[in-house]
Amino acid sequence: MQDGTSGNGALYGTPSAPAQRTAPCASNTANTADTRRVTIHTLRAMKRRREKMTMITAYDATFARLLDRAGAELLLVGDSLGMVVQGHDSTLPVTMDDMLYHCRAVARGRGAGRAHIVGDMPFMSYQASIDDAVRNAGRFLKEGMAESVKLEGGAAMADTVRRIVSAGIPVMGHIGLTPQSVHQLGGYKVQGKSEAEADRLVHDAQALEAAGAYAIVLETVPAPLAARISEAVAIPTIGIGAGPDCDGQVLVCYDLLGLGTGEFRPKFLKQYSSLGTEAVDAASRFRDEVRAGRFPAPEHCY
Ligand code: KIV
Repeated sequence: MQDGTSGNGALYGTPSAPAQRTAPCASNTANTADTRRVTIHTLRAMKRRREKMTMITAYDATFARLLDRAGAELLLVGDSLGMVVQGHDSTLPVTMDDMLYHCRAVARGRGAGRAHIVGDMPFMSYQASIDDAVRNAGRFLKEGMAESVKLEGGAAMADTVRRIVSAGIPVMGHIGLTPQSVHQLGGYKVQGKSEAEADRLVHDAQALEAAGAYAIVLETVPAPLAARISEAVAIPTIGIGAGPDCDGQVLVCYDLLGLGTGEFRPKFLKQYSSLGTEAVDAASRFRDEVRAGRFPAPEHCY
C-alpha cells in the first residue's frame, strides 16, 4: 500500500448514482430548485454569479443523507474524522483505508442526492512521491466513490496537483492552517499574519490555480487576506476561520451541530444546534425508564 497501511482494495458501495434525480426529496427543506448533481463547473459558475457555496464534513451514510438534504453543495469526507470519529488528537494517524471506508459510507448515504463528494487525502498519502499521490487520488474515485480529492499545501504541491488533475481527477487545494503540518507550524495558529506570509499565501493560491485545482480551502487566516486571495484567483475559495469574503464556507458537521465535547470552541465556530446535549438527555431518559421498568411499555412488545 502506498501509504504504508494494509487494505484489500475491494470495491464496495452502490452502483454509481444517477447524475440527476427526477424529483427532490419530499422533506427536503432547502435548495430544491436545482436537483442536478453539483460538479466542479457548478462551483466555478457559482463564483462567477457571486453565489456563496456551502461545504460540510460528513463521515457516514446517515449524516451524508441529512446534509445533502439540507442543500450543502459539497460533502467533505475530511481527515478531521481522525479527531471527531476516531478520537485521536490530530489528523496524522488517519490512513487511506480509513478514508476510503468513510468515503464509501458517505457516497451510499448521499445516494442519488445532489452534493459533490470530496475525499480528503490523508497524511503521507501524497507527500512522498507524485506517483503515490496519483495512485492514492485514483483510489478515492475508484474505491471510495468520491468525485474529487483535497490535499494540503500550496506552491510546493503544484506539480502533484498538476499530475493528479492530468489523470482526470479534480483537486481541491488547502492552504493557511494545514493541520497535517501541525508540528511544523508549531500548533493550530492563525496563518498569514505578516506581510511576507500573506504574500506567500496569495502566491500559493495562484500556483494551485495554475496547476489546475478547482477550489481552495483557506483555513484560519485573517479575513482581509482571505478576501485578497479570493479576488486573486478565479476558482472558488472555501473558508474556515477565514472571514466572510470567501466564496464559500466549510464547517465540521459535529461542531456546527453541537456534537463536540464543548472544549473545542475556536472564535470562528458557530454552533447551530445542541445535538450533543439532546443526545445525552435522550439516552438518560431511556436509562431512567429502563431502571424504573417503564420501558418497554405494552405498545413496544410483540
Ligand atoms: O478535514 C477536514 O475536516 C478539513 C476541513 C476542516 C476543511 O480539512
